[in-house]
Amino acid sequence: PEAFAALGARRALVCGAGLLVQTVRDELAAAAARYGGKVTAGAAAAGPAGPAGAAGAGAPELVLALAGAGPLPGPAAAVLAGHDPAADALGDEGFLLARRAGVTVVLADRPAGLLYGLFHLVRLGPAAFGPDRALERHRPVLRHRMLDHWDNVAVHPVMGQVERGYAGGSIFWRDGGPRRDFERVRAYGRLLAACGVNAVAVNNVNVHATEARLLTDRLGDVADLADRLRPYGIRVHLSVSFAAPVMLGGLPTADPCDEAVRDWWAAATRRVYERIPDFGGYVVKADSEGQPGPFRYGRSHADGANVLAEALAPHGGVVHWRAFVYNHRQDWRDRSTDRARAAFDHFAPLDGRFRDNVILQVKHGPIDFQPREPVSPVIAAMPGTRLAVELQATQEYTGQQRHVCYLGPWWSEILRFAPWGPGGSTVADVAAGTAYEGRPALPGTVGGGGGGLVAVSNAGDDPFWTGHPLAQANLYAFGRLAWDPGLDPLAVLDEWIDLTFTPSTTRDPRLVRRILHEVLDDSWRTYERYTAPLGVGFMVRPGHHYGPDVDGYEYTPWGTYHFADRDGVGVDRTRATGTRFTGQYPPPWSHTYESVQTCPDELLLFFHHVPYRHVLRSGVTVIQHIYDSHFAGVEQVVAMRDRWRRLARLIDARLHARVSQRLDEQLRCAQEWRDQVNAYFYRKSGVPDAHGRRIP
Ligand code: GCU
Repeated sequence: PEAFAALGARRALVCGAGLLVQTVRDELAAAAARYGGKVTAGAAAAGPAGPAGAAGAGAPELVLALAGAGPLPGPAAAVLAGHDPAADALGDEGFLLARRAGVTVVLADRPAGLLYGLFHLVRLGPAAFGPDRALERHRPVLRHRMLDHWDNVAVHPVMGQVERGYAGGSIFWRDGGPRRDFERVRAYGRLLAACGVNAVAVNNVNVHATEARLLTDRLGDVADLADRLRPYGIRVHLSVSFAAPVMLGGLPTADPCDEAVRDWWAAATRRVYERIPDFGGYVVKADSEGQPGPFRYGRSHADGANVLAEALAPHGGVVHWRAFVYNHRQDWRDRSTDRARAAFDHFAPLDGRFRDNVILQVKHGPIDFQPREPVSPVIAAMPGTRLAVELQATQEYTGQQRHVCYLGPWWSEILRFAPWGPGGSTVADVAAGTAYEGRPALPGTVGGGGGGLVAVSNAGDDPFWTGHPLAQANLYAFGRLAWDPGLDPLAVLDEWIDLTFTPSTTRDPRLVRRILHEVLDDSWRTYERYTAPLGVGFMVRPGHHYGPDVDGYEYTPWGTYHFADRDGVGVDRTRATGTRFTGQYPPPWSHTYESVQTCPDELLLFFHHVPYRHVLRSGVTVIQHIYDSHFAGVEQVVAMRDRWRRLARLIDARLHARVSQRLDEQLRCAQEWRDQVNAYFYRKSGVPDAHGRRIP
C-alpha cells in the first residue's frame, strides 16, 4: 500500500462512470483513508457526491477524468484543450498525463485508460506532484498482453496442481475444484493491472478431463474468476481441448470440417458468452505432445483454428492457436529430423489461411524456452497471420524460481531482434502488427492489431506470489515490456524496486537499490554461463528439468540433442551439411547463421557442430570457453550471495531469509552444473583447462 502514499495524501477528483472508473475511485479512496487525502466524484459520476468541488474540500490537486465526463476544473479542461483526439487517439487503454498550476491531470477516452493512468501515477510517486509536466500521451504498444496459467483444476499425477509451477499452488484451483479465495484473485488482478497485463488464461494448455469441462458444466467457476478480474480490466481466456466435441458433446468426431462439430463449437461458445459477456477467447495446444488436434482427421491447423475462430467471431473473441507442434516421438538415431524446423514446416505454408480472429502463438525460440536460443524463424515467415510471441515467466529452464534469473534483459533482446536485419522491423513490431507497415503491400499482409505478447505465468499462492521473491521482477517486467517493448529492462527493474522496497520498509533505499541491481542485472547471463554452453540448450534432468544431466535427453525421443563426441559438439543445422534449418531465416540471418565465421558465439552450438579447439570470435577455443564460463558463472553466484548478505536487517527479515536460502541452493546447483559440464567435456575431449583449475 505504501506505493500509494503520494496519491493518498491528495485531494483527488475522479470524473466518469463505469466499473473501471469505480475501481480507480475505490483505489484512491482506500489510499486516502490511509494517508489523509480526500476523493470526490466528478459531475458525470453516478455517485452522490455531486459536481466537482461541491464537497467543499478545496480545489483538487489530482484529477482523473474520462473525456466527455462533464465539466472539468480549469487545469484539467486546459489539458484537454491541448489534446486533439482525431490526430492522437488514445484508444481503449491510453491516457494523457500533465501537470499544470499545481494540479496533476490524467485523462482517458475509455475507463481502462484511467486505470492504467492511475497505476502510472503510482509508479511516479511523489514525482507526479512535483514541477509542472508537459502533456504526455501513453498508449500500449501491444494490445494483447496475456498470461497463460498452466494451472490444473485436478491435481495431475505427474505435473501436480500447476504444471511447471514453482510458486506453490494455484491461485484459482485446488484439489479438483475452484479455490474460491476471491480476495486473492482480486488482489492478483490488481497486481497484473499494475504491471499492464490485460488477459489471463486460467487453465493449463494441456487440457485433461476435468479441465475440459470448464467450457461446459464447470463454466460457472470461470465466470466467478472473470467477475473478480474484470474490475482490473482483465479478460479471462480458457484453454480448451480440440476433442471437446467428442469428450463433452458426445459427437463421434471432432473433425473441424464436420457440420455438427461446427455447430457444437458455435453453441458451446454462445453459452460461454451468455455467462461471461467479455470472455477473451480460447487457447489451444493441438497435435502437440499428445494433445488432440486436426491431424487426426487429415485436416490442417488452419482448418482447426478457423472452426473455433468462427464460433468466437460473433462475440468478439480470439483463438490463441499455439505453434508448438513437433514430433515428440522421434527416433534419436534419425539425424534428418530436426525439432527446430517443426513449427516453421507446419505453419509457414498456412500463412494467410487463418481467420482474422486467430492469433498464432509462437514460442520465442524454435525449441523450448531455453536460456539461449535464436529467435524463431516463424516470426518472420507469416505476414498474413496475426502472431503472438510466447515467453516463459515461470522458470522451467531458468532455475525454477530457486535461482535468481532476471529475464527482462533476455526478453528485451528478443523483442528488439530484427528478423530482416539490423535497422528493420523487430519481433516487437510483429507482435504489435506493425512490422509490414511502410513496405510494398504484401498479398494478405495483416494490418494493425498484432497478436501481442504472452507469458506462461510464474505466480501462485505463495506469500511472495512467485516463490522466489526476486522472481516478481520477471512478472513485472513482462507486463511492462508488453506495454512498451522499447523500455530499458534495467529501468523497469528500478520501477519494480521502488514499488517493492518502499522507504519505510528499508532503512537504506539507495543501498538496497544498488545491491538489487548487482544481484539481478546480469543474473540471466550468469545462469547461462553455468548451464548448457553456447546455445546448445537442455542438458537438464529429464522430466522435472531441474539441475544438470548432460546426456539426460541425448538418446530420447524428444529431439533435444547436443551430439557431443570425442572431437566436438553442437548441432549442424546448416544448409550445406546439416538439417537446413538456417534456410528458414530470411537474409541476412540465413547467411549469418550458416557460417561458423559469422555465427554469433552465443549461438554457435545451436547452429554448428564444431571441434573442441575451434576458436570462437571471442578468441578462445570452444573447450576453454566451456571451462571459463562455468568457473565464472559459479564465482558470480558466490558474489551474488555475498552481496545479498549485506541486506540483512535492511529489508523484511522473512524476505531476506527466503532469498538467502534460495541463494544457497542456487550456489549448490551451479557448482553441480559446473562440475558435471566441465567433467563431461574434459573426459570427452581430453583437453585440459589452460589455467589448470580442478575438474573432477
Ligand atoms: C514444455 C513443458 C511442458 C509444456 C510444453 C508446452 O515442453 O515442459 O510442460 O506443456 O512446454 O509449452 O506446451
